[in-house]
Amino acid sequence: MKPFDVYPINPINIVKANGSTVWDAEGNAYLDLYGGHAVISIGHTHPHYVRRITEQLNRIGFYSNSVEIPIQRELARLLGEVSGKVDYDLFLCNSGAEANENALKLASFYNKRKKIIAFSKSFHGRTSLAVAATDNPSIVAPVNETENVVFLPFNDEEALKEAFAVYGDEISSVIIESIQGVGGIKEASIAFLRLIRSLCDQYNAVFIADEVQCGYGRTGLFYAQDYSGVSADIYTMAKGMGNGFPIGAISISPKFKATHGSLGTTFGGNHLACAAAMAVLEVIHQDNLMANANAVGQYLIDELKKIDEIVEVRGRGLMIGVELPASFGHVKKDLLLKNRIFTGEAKPFVIRLLPALNITKEHADQFLSALKEHIKAAVAV
Ligand SMILES: Cc1ncc(COP(=O)(O)O)c(C=O)c1O
Repeated sequence: MKPFDVYPINPINIVKANGSTVWDAEGNAYLDLYGGHAVISIGHTHPHYVRRITEQLNRIGFYSNSVEIPIQRELARLLGEVSGKVDYDLFLCNSGAEANENALKLASFYNKRKKIIAFSKSFHGRTSLAVAATDNPSIVAPVNETENVVFLPFNDEEALKEAFAVYGDEISSVIIESIQGVGGIKEASIAFLRLIRSLCDQYNAVFIADEVQCGYGRTGLFYAQDYSGVSADIYTMAKGMGNGFPIGAISISPKFKATHGSLGTTFGGNHLACAAAMAVLEVIHQDNLMANANAVGQYLIDELKKIDEIVEVRGRGLMIGVELPASFGHVKKDLLLKNRIFTGEAKPFVIRLLPALNITKEHADQFLSALKEHIKAAVAV
């Protein structure tokens, strides 16, 4: 047997990691500004994280949701505090897709409706309903196709008003990434997020903020949605939550009443996953990582904006998209192979920065000088 070949991979075998540095099998060090796709939030092998998981594993790693699991309550309390949503409830699962799947289902249980509004270039995951709300037909299998999802242009207020005028009481939920990740680091406007809030209130539809990539402190506030000044009814999260330990969750407004059996999971909320998530939140909180994400992110954005050849710099905090002209398409690969700097990408020519929230100004400078070198070389050709 061999792995099912679904990923285009870089020929690099990472065997060791610490903070924002990873090493390959030959001992070469790389600067990690990709964080394994926005997952490494507090840095690789953070000592507090390793200690907490190890201690938990030595006591108990797993028991099912059929018994008391006090660490779930501790996690809910801390997450409520750090996110500023103390009156919301927490449902734990294992991934971003699952979080969105559960959010969409909960919305539909709540208002007994079927239609979902999603937006162009959205990415919400690969499970059945999450993928149906994802604007990429190439990953939607025939069995996932549904007429329940209506796609609208991103940030188009008139189209949104029109959709509510047409479908009105049929709309169960609106799902949106406040900053689209896979879509190329595109921000929802504050006016657009506020309009979603007011239309959802008017029609009793549920506002779901997909914070799987843009949330968990990455933008300098806990949820990227917080910049709009309005709350969502359900926040979904995953990537940064476990710093690599698989865990996802939804944060649920008090207007939803839980009923036994409506949502459920075997692995979600197990002791070990909760210990990982506790360690992450403790470090984010104690080390003031949201403030660091804001400061280093703003420094990067300001410096990138000074480079004339860049088409556009987008994003907030440490979720940054650098759009390059087509002729600079090789730069991301050069950064990896020549400078040993991991970055992410989005089609067609966007470099995505999704590093740990505790990167330093020195890490930022290392990237900036490598990028400038490649741009200078490309211009000279
Ligand atoms: C915004 C967003 N939502 C959902 C998902 C799906 O998360 P997962 O891969 O953990 O299922 C992703 C993954 O990239 C994402 O970026």
